[in-house]
Amino acid sequence: MIWTRPHLLGLQDLGREEILCILDLAASFKEVSSRSIKKVPALRGRVVVNLFFEASTRTSNSFALAAKRLSADTMSFTSSGSSVSKGETLIDTARNIEAMGVDAFVVRHSASGAPHLLAKHLQCSVINAGDGCHEHPTQGLLDIFTIRETMGRIEGLRVAILGDIRHSRVARSNAWGLTKLGARVVFCGPPPLIPRGIKECMDVEISHDVDEVVESCDVLNCLRIQFERKAGNYFPSVREYAAIFGLNGERMKRARPGCIIMHPGPINRGIELTPELADGPKSVILRQVENGLAVRMAVLYLCVGASRGHAVGGDRDEGRTE
Ligand code: CP
Repeated sequence: MIWTRPHLLGLQDLGREEILCILDLAASFKEVSSRSIKKVPALRGRVVVNLFFEASTRTSNSFALAAKRLSADTMSFTSSGSSVSKGETLIDTARNIEAMGVDAFVVRHSASGAPHLLAKHLQCSVINAGDGCHEHPTQGLLDIFTIRETMGRIEGLRVAILGDIRHSRVARSNAWGLTKLGARVVFCGPPPLIPRGIKECMDVEISHDVDEVVESCDVLNCLRIQFERKAGNYFPSVREYAAIFGLNGERMKRARPGCIIMHPGPINRGIELTPELADGPKSVILRQVENGLAVRMAVLYLCVGASRGHAVGGDRDEGRTE
């Protein structure tokens, strides 16, 4: 296919073929990470900047390493210690850094729509690394990649997304992407943590019965309770939440034999799921992190290197080591 998008702002915007294009390209980039020289020259001379206004461990480091594996120059901006503390706006901050000759911003922000705003005001590519409670498209893509790699398909699977749906950009990106590829998605959690009306916007099922969901699903993707967004105000106690909605060994006895457990991280161990499940044989949590690198290489390559209308899968040089 011909990739023409300079930005990746969400999976709601993407078509099925575009999602498959990213996943297939990520599979070929994953092979690069198994080589002795884990680097290709695809983005040599390009500049990729991490612009993070919210904390991150996985996404920021994964994008930074992905850009380096593609031979791009990288810069990292965090709002603490910057001129944001003197009142500089988001747009002014980004435009001033862009003036240094930037090709792409990877943006995380607590405000939903912040990357979309930047995409309107900047010349360079903008990739959403998580905006408020809206979308986290590369997390959705790496989750879908991991499900496809582990289960061999997406079509026809029943995927449960468990927990704090209300505050979760991961839930939204997963649901958009998975349903476009033919999976059935069920959001499961306490009623106050599932936004009213979400079924009218997305093709998802709603459940409040974790045991039923554990029995009937192929994938259990547990979400972090976002205490920093006051999610703790939506249920009486953490102990009660863990007992009624958390995954534990007893509950998993009902699960299908090939069922996998996922979590985007960071984990509240003992709340969303017990440590023995997080570290156990059904868990693919670290494989999600591993796959995130390949997915982000594919996204950077497509948006920064191929978005000028080049065919993907033709004479790209991502397979050639330096
Ligand atoms: N999954 C995820 O977005 O993790 P970080 O907040 O550490 O980037």
